[in-house]
Amino acid sequence: MKTVSVCFVCLGNICRSPTAEGVMRHLVDEAKLAERILIDSAGTGDWHIGAPPDQRAQQAATQRGYELAALRGRQIAATDFERFDLLIAMDDKNVAALRQMCPPGQRDKIRLLMEFAPQTDSRWSGTREVTDPYFGGAEGFEQVLDQCEAACRGLIAALRPQLFT
Ligand code: 4NP
Repeated sequence: MKTVSVCFVCLGNICRSPTAEGVMRHLVDEAKLAERILIDSAGTGDWHIGAPPDQRAQQAATQRGYELAALRGRQIAATDFERFDLLIAMDDKNVAALRQMCPPGQRDKIRLLMEFAPQTDSRWSGTREVTDPYFGGAEGFEQVLDQCEAACRGLIAALRPQLFT
């Protein structure tokens, strides 16, 4: 059975990338692809290693039916480039940090999450990044969820053909 492994990457691994992980797990379960699409998340920074997702991220996610409580922060490592097929960054700074630690020949694994939002979704056409909600208000966490929902649906659609060929 073919599988594909994806790791969502942000700065702290307590807001955006755990949200992407939780949304992706839910959608992948719904699509009955949990055995084929393997999902994780990590941060480029080390401040929140071992910490649960930010309370605001958890609360916003719970209201939409996603479960983040069991996730714990971890820092991305060079070995993750061997473990994962795709390292999916939330913003350009995360991409830059990943490129700095990327082993030779693995750069194509680094992508931006919003690349996968359907071009037809006018809400996000031209939006490159998932903005860091950490220092802002509750609406930032809602926008992160909106972006993760759109992009993770597109990501599953993009991965599906390679799982069944
Ligand atoms: P995240 O948000 O990268 O989406 O997890 C942040 C969380 C914590 C910090 C920055 C961003 N921080 O500076 O501690």
